[in-house]
Amino acid sequence: MRFLKKGEKEKPKSQPSSTTKGHPELQVVSGAQISGQQPRQPTPQPQQQQQNITLPNIKYKIAVASGKGGVGKSTVATNLAISLASAGSAVGLLDADAYGPSIPTMMGIQEQPKTSPERKIIPLVRHDIKLMSIGFMVPEEQAMIWRGPMLHGAIRQLLGDVDWGELDYLIIDLPPGTGDVALSLTQALPLTGALIVTTPQDVALADVRRGVAMFERLGVPILGIIENMSYFLCPHCNEKTEIFRADGGKNTSERFGVAFLGQIPLDAEVCTAGDIGVPIVAGHPESPQSEAFGAVAKELGVVLEESGEEDELTIL
Ligand SMILES: Nc1ncnc2c1ncn2[C@@H]1O[C@H](COP(=O)(O)OP(=O)(O)OP(=O)(O)O)[C@@H](O)[C@H]1O
Ligand SMILES: [Mg+2]
Repeated sequence: MRFLKKGEKEKPKSQPSSTTKGHPELQVVSGAQISGQQPRQPTPQPQQQQQNITLPNIKYKIAVASGKGGVGKSTVATNLAISLASAGSAVGLLDADAYGPSIPTMMGIQEQPKTSPERKIIPLVRHDIKLMSIGFMVPEEQAMIWRGPMLHGAIRQLLGDVDWGELDYLIIDLPPGTGDVALSLTQALPLTGALIVTTPQDVALADVRRGVAMFERLGVPILGIIENMSYFLCPHCNEKTEIFRADGGKNTSERFGVAFLGQIPLDAEVCTAGDIGVPIVAGHPESPQSEAFGAVAKELGVVLEESGEEDELTIL
């Protein structure tokens, strides 16, 4: 393992030929590129090779990923972001899930962001978090058919054309699996690292391996594994019931030699809070569920501090 300094300069942007509804600043590449004549998918490269967005005013750029869908990435990303902000950090949250952007719903905001005189997109602010989502910019059915080049252009613009300002953390919620968005993201920006969210069952854990392998291949450090829906905490007697397999995430993190950042209980309120747009950490900060998210946020801080990884360093 060795450390390298980043140093690539911004390359000129490709000329986009289509614009997003009501928001010409977020321009995406040619529509013809989704019509079967797509260039070959780029071969995954180590982080360093093609990146030219640096965001030096953001200390930690962290992707939230999973090998499997529906394990709670977006729930974890929103509540983790709010936990970090309530502990005093400046936090941005980028919903990079073109195929099912859920952050606007979970954060209770559906507006079109405005543009600054410098033609930068101004992120929306909710629960003290700066927010951007593909879902703010284009109708869902349009983004759903995007593939490689279209996604690549959109991801680059959500990173580079947004006025994120100074942040301690930019949390980036990815779609499930090991697809185009993760590839575009790692090609556009040097990430501090990735968090893998899983549930405790074997079927989900098998997919963790794929996620870990993908980030390793892309040269992105895994900052840790978060186990969601770990147990049910009875609201009446506080008894803990492990509905799925006990400690699956913890054992898996040991197997991969990555940090285990904590367990989040399965709880109807976590789900309802996301549906009504007030994540549990914002609505019920004193609840045991919020404490679990807070513990994960704290553990993440410890891992980052111990690894000494900041914007200037990338593990290859
Ligand atoms: N700890 C939890 N307790 C109860 N419900 C939860 C919990 N975590 C997530 N959920 C619910 O599970 C569903 C899926 O969660 P979420 O959308 O966060 O998953 P995801 O991994 O982002 O999904 P996708 O792969 O589709 O992006 C949502 O309805 C969410 O409210
Ligand atoms: Mg999601």
